[in-house]
Amino acid sequence: MNPNPYEYVEAHREAFVGELIEFLRIPSISTLSEYAGDVRRAATWLADHLASIGMQRVEVVETARHPIVYAEWLGAPGAPTVLIYGHYDVQPVDDPEGQWLSDPFEPDIRAGNLYARGATDDKGQVLTQIKAVQALLASGEMPVNVKFVIEGEEESGSTNLYPFVEQNAERLAADIVVVSDTGMKSLAEPSIVYGLRGLAYMEIEVRGPEHDLHSGSYGGVVHNPAQALVEILAQMHDDQGRVTVPGFYDRVAVVSAEERAELAKTPMTVERLRRETGAPAAWGETGYALHERTGIRPTLEINGLVSGWISEGTKTVLPAKALAKVSCRLVPDQDAQEIAALVSDFVRSITPPTVTSAVRLLHHGRWAVVDVSSPEMQAARDAYEFGFGKQPTLVREGGSVPIVGAFQSALHAPVILMGFGQQDDNLHGPNEKFALAGFAGGMKTAIKFYQIIGQRG
Ligand code: BES
Ligand code: ZN
Repeated sequence: MNPNPYEYVEAHREAFVGELIEFLRIPSISTLSEYAGDVRRAATWLADHLASIGMQRVEVVETARHPIVYAEWLGAPGAPTVLIYGHYDVQPVDDPEGQWLSDPFEPDIRAGNLYARGATDDKGQVLTQIKAVQALLASGEMPVNVKFVIEGEEESGSTNLYPFVEQNAERLAADIVVVSDTGMKSLAEPSIVYGLRGLAYMEIEVRGPEHDLHSGSYGGVVHNPAQALVEILAQMHDDQGRVTVPGFYDRVAVVSAEERAELAKTPMTVERLRRETGAPAAWGETGYALHERTGIRPTLEINGLVSGWISEGTKTVLPAKALAKVSCRLVPDQDAQEIAALVSDFVRSITPPTVTSAVRLLHHGRWAVVDVSSPEMQAARDAYEFGFGKQPTLVREGGSVPIVGAFQSALHAPVILMGFGQQDDNLHGPNEKFALAGFAGGMKTAIKFYQIIGQRG
């Protein structure tokens, strides 16, 4: 007799963790071109893995950059079809102060957590879904049809996934889209994300003299581009923490008092913020609670700044140029390209005649909000209660998963953001982790969700 899927997961716990470790060892950093071979290796590993659990039509789909992994199992005629999305690429390590306690690509288990780059974002979550499907297939009671789309460019803007989704809408057709790339507040405070912010990621370059100059000979008579850049950047917020770019808030939809009251039930506190981040105090737009500043308000962030001499020792230089990476997180009903144009106009308008500036839009993605009153959301809530022992709360996340909006518009299917990470997993930072209990609870939740969806027909 076949084991039931929950027994199967129990019996294979160690093997599954071992497979996740193997997957995490591949440094599939999509934003750095020197890792392109590793990104491809991760895609192949994934495709082989999907084939080994019984998925069909497994394909490594070539794109202009990193491949997309597709697989399907359509052996339950008449049952609903679920499209499961995740990404196998990861963020760069970037650890100048040596804060990683173990090698980011040599996964280490400490106190029930698996530490590695990509552990929670998103390889751990991708494997959670794959293992749930494996368990259902092995039990012989697969209640739904499944399609997997796992991309290798989420961390660099999903550039090639957009056209793939548009051109393959029929192949990807599904009754529900499940996106596993978000988190919960914590394992003890399960929550489901129902809103993601959009993103407009830009680069601002300021140039002055044709080449670097001696800062003694020319400092004081040539406008230093590093200084001009920070003067520009310093004008982008007012003393209330509001973004000053004209028109920035024009399209921001008003969030109802009911929704704000609902969100206020799981607030972010100053105390928790300090504990999670180590920042000495909270900051941001006055008039909004902390969870609202990330959940329902747009923001503008400086992601990086470079200019002049930043290596060891000193160099008395007046740099020829300065560069900033700046991104805006967007909310309904803002438009990413329009926001980028507004930022660009504003930068141009405040650039002094002593330097020149250029703003380039590097990538952008739409915000997404999913219907919390849908039957699929009810199924998800019940599944979380089964998997984590408590009814989940509903939250709006500050981060972005750019393709979600495209799934909504191209596939016309409801999306469930079935995240299994935790708020303090430190994704994109040092010592990124994924809790083994989250892995186990996530598999239980996903299996339950597919069973409920399948039963409902
Ligand atoms: N998994 C994250 C999105 C996320 C962030 C969920 C924080 C929950 C909490 C996703 O992989 C991500 O990091 N997305 C990028 C998108 C960008 C590079 C286009 C992001 O939000 O910065
Ligand atoms: Zn990420």
